[in-house]
Amino acid sequence: MAVGRLTGVCGIVGYAGSGPALDVVLDGLRRLEYRGYDSAGVALSTSAGLFTCKRAGKLAALEKALADETPPEASTGIGHTRWATHGAPTDTNSHPHLGPAGRVAVVHNGIIENFDGLARRLEADGHELLSDTDTEVVAHLLEAEVMKGADLTTAMQRVCRRLVGAFTLVAVSCDEPDRVVAARRSSPLVVGVGDGENFVASDVAAFIDKTTDALELGEDQVVSITATTVDITDFVGNPATGRRFTVDWDVEAAEKAGYDYFMLKEIAEQPTAVADTLLGRFTPEGRLRLDELRLSDDELRGIDKIIVVACGTAFHAGLIAKYTIEHWTRIPCEVELASEFRYRDPIIDRDTMVVAISQSGETMDTLMAVRHAREQRAKVLAISNTNGSTIPRESDAVLYTRAGPEIAVASTKAFLTQIVACHLIGLYLAQVRGTKYGDEISQVVHELESMPAAIDTVLDTVEPVRELARDLRDVSSVLFLGRHVGYPVALEGALKLKELAYMHAEGFAAGELKHGPIALIEPGTPVFVVMPSRGRGPLHDKMANNIAEIRARGARTVVLAETGDDQARECADTLIELPPVPTLLQPLVATVPMQVFACEMARVRGHEVDQPRNLAKSVTVE
Ligand code: AGP
Repeated sequence: MAVGRLTGVCGIVGYAGSGPALDVVLDGLRRLEYRGYDSAGVALSTSAGLFTCKRAGKLAALEKALADETPPEASTGIGHTRWATHGAPTDTNSHPHLGPAGRVAVVHNGIIENFDGLARRLEADGHELLSDTDTEVVAHLLEAEVMKGADLTTAMQRVCRRLVGAFTLVAVSCDEPDRVVAARRSSPLVVGVGDGENFVASDVAAFIDKTTDALELGEDQVVSITATTVDITDFVGNPATGRRFTVDWDVEAAEKAGYDYFMLKEIAEQPTAVADTLLGRFTPEGRLRLDELRLSDDELRGIDKIIVVACGTAFHAGLIAKYTIEHWTRIPCEVELASEFRYRDPIIDRDTMVVAISQSGETMDTLMAVRHAREQRAKVLAISNTNGSTIPRESDAVLYTRAGPEIAVASTKAFLTQIVACHLIGLYLAQVRGTKYGDEISQVVHELESMPAAIDTVLDTVEPVRELARDLRDVSSVLFLGRHVGYPVALEGALKLKELAYMHAEGFAAGELKHGPIALIEPGTPVFVVMPSRGRGPLHDKMANNIAEIRARGARTVVLAETGDDQARECADTLIELPPVPTLLQPLVATVPMQVFACEMARVRGHEVDQPRNLAKSVTVE
């Protein structure tokens, strides 16, 4: 299947109101810049015609270009920030794209997979495509429909029916200067319903300072907004409705709240994020209650296999979930990289539950895994942090983490709340299937409820970790070791360092050292070690032996261990003390110093902490 030139993951804003549209759109783009940031553009719609301005580079480049121009007063406009994957980030490839007559402008996120054939037909009809993006093809198709007399909404419906792929499209036409029309298929788009103004955006963060009244759109829907109207149809034109919800993030939550970086703010928010994710989950009798879990207890009792699918950090949360779910429910639990899952022809049936973990709820690899699971009749449960996103919408049930907006590309609070959500699901399954008694569940609930304080304790003691990062700023590689649930923590610590410090970092199961990785140890090699709690005697002692092995070869050991662990203290060049917590909850405290270490390493290396190179917050392309 020819894959269209990807236009990458992007921030999209559309506005129809009393204006000034340019200010509103730019303000929205600023809040979405994390979604993608190598070019940006705006289009304003007036009865005198369309005004567009677009530039490669950060949003600042666009704002500079606008300062050199005279944008018209307009009450309707659209905007776009882009993270290119194919098609270099150039002014020409930037969005918006226009039809040949300049009467229609469109911005786009996603992949038009059949754009090649559409482009060839347009060129055969004499169209000249200036860019090498799939989006420009859509602009030409939309304008062709408008030129035949269709209104923009009808034009959008007709064009969407011809498109194959995943896309969010937002368009304006100078023939209808008070209207913005948008469409979505397997790609993010939400509607903000204001007072005398309305918004469409790829993320609620774009308009939460204007309205918290939002609409979640369904698959294959078109929404047409003016200052006072919001009309939704399907791609054929049949009236449809969206799901209304209230955005409970305030503007402050989406700003930096005084921290130098969103990442630091989000690390500091972890106790609250964990506490919020636990809120309202328990009846006064201590029984678990998961409201959004739209699967019946009978369905949950019938499950005989669980497969967790996710990417990156979310995948590491899934690895931790395996230990919890299997230990508490005795249900076999596999954990799969979403990008590998459907290509290995997994064994799935009606008694399989696929758990899809995704902070953004838009990760294309995970969405495609969800679709494959549903085609195979599995039940799909999503764990997501983003209300109104695609993956929860396409799942049978959802458990929302409540981490609030996670703006930094490097995931932190979402990771901890994903772990908590997985614990809640494991507990709920144990409750429904009777593999844990009520008092045992209450005990775990009590332990979970004590975790925000434990995380706070760690946060109060991380300054030495920052000093360690400054001390190690010039090292070329760092290794991470863990056993049991400490192994996924080691993987996560390594991923943080890779994506923030742009350096080699690798996590290992400590038992694997002697099967090869120990050859990497040289004098001075920094090695983080997640020490199992002393309650897990055999694991603790084996890890002590591993530390002795690497120290004998000159490693510089950074040992994360619970306070009072004298054996750990003796073998640590640097000791990072953790509050004693139950084994299965240790990732919630052991991960935090690694997040801080990676963040400080990025800072001292002069990197863009919140927007590391080559990465985007939500990878909505495969
Ligand atoms: C983690 O720091 C990265 N940002 C990345 O690995 C991320 O976890 C992954 O892309 C999955 O994103 P999702 O949770 O939004 O699906």
